[in-house]
Amino acid sequence: MESRPLENKVALVTGSARGIGRSIAEDLASWGANQVILDVRLEDCQKTAAEIAEKYKVKTIAVQCNITVKEQVEAAQEKIAKDFGTLHILVNNAGVLKDNLLIRMKEEEWDLVLDVNLKGAFLMTQAMLRLLMKAEGGSRIVNISSVSGIVGQAGQANYSSSKAGLIGLTKVTAREYGARGVLVNAVCPGYVQTDMTGALPEKVQEELRKSVPLGRAGQVKDISRVVRFLCSEDAGFITGTVIRVDGGMATGM
Ligand SMILES: NC(=O)c1ccc[n+]([C@@H]2O[C@H](COP(=O)([O-])OP(=O)(O)OC[C@H]3O[C@@H](n4cnc5c(N)ncnc54)[C@H](O)[C@@H]3O)[C@@H](O)[C@H]2O)c1
Repeated sequence: MESRPLENKVALVTGSARGIGRSIAEDLASWGANQVILDVRLEDCQKTAAEIAEKYKVKTIAVQCNITVKEQVEAAQEKIAKDFGTLHILVNNAGVLKDNLLIRMKEEEWDLVLDVNLKGAFLMTQAMLRLLMKAEGGSRIVNISSVSGIVGQAGQANYSSSKAGLIGLTKVTAREYGARGVLVNAVCPGYVQTDMTGALPEKVQEELRKSVPLGRAGQVKDISRVVRFLCSEDAGFITGTVIRVDGGMATGM
């Protein structure tokens, strides 16, 4: 059995019912951290929470929450305070895509993506800081941005802007709460095989694969292992940074 350096810690990963978020929750649980599985999809959320509790022998709770709605985020914070009394790790992972050329992009497409990817992370961070600042031994926030937020991707005016904004939020939070023991970093995945990217046309997926110097799509574990490192003791002097995990995709950009 793996050693469990995060035993008795409590972690909240948004959008953890599936995909990269689920993999992050699993990796943190495999090191002993209790989990808040939070997602807008209730059934998937409950299933994931039950499976992780069984497999990793940690305590999990399933919380249905739309992170764009302040009242729901507040209610989630209250539930975590009541059930666990503390929070050591927040991973702002939930995100959506709604690609379109800028000239054709509907206002609703802009609003949806900015609301989930940026405002959702702001609301979560604001609410959870109350617990994170008091966590014994300090705490961590990891924001899941994207290489699209660094390089700008055609067809993704909304998505690239939201992910660039998340990098800004990461740096501000790192500066404001470093002295309170909260370390904050961003991870920028490149092209990772999940339901989100599986919905893209096969031709686009092929192009994406070709643009990766390592010659393959990322797997969810490629991302979640780096997030887990950022939540570990070994990353105790890292804050305010942006780490690309993209197989070299955005090298030199
Ligand atoms: N897959 C990639 O190639 C890739 C690349 C770069 C960045 N990312 C980022 O990684 C994160 C995870 O991506 P993924 O590929 O696993 O996506 P995914 O679509 O498989 O999973 C996202 C999860 O977020 C949840 N979610 C969506 N809106 C929500 C809301 N309003 N409130 C609560 N939960 C909500 C969904 O229900 C889903 O379970 C996203 O932020 C995405 O932008 C992914």
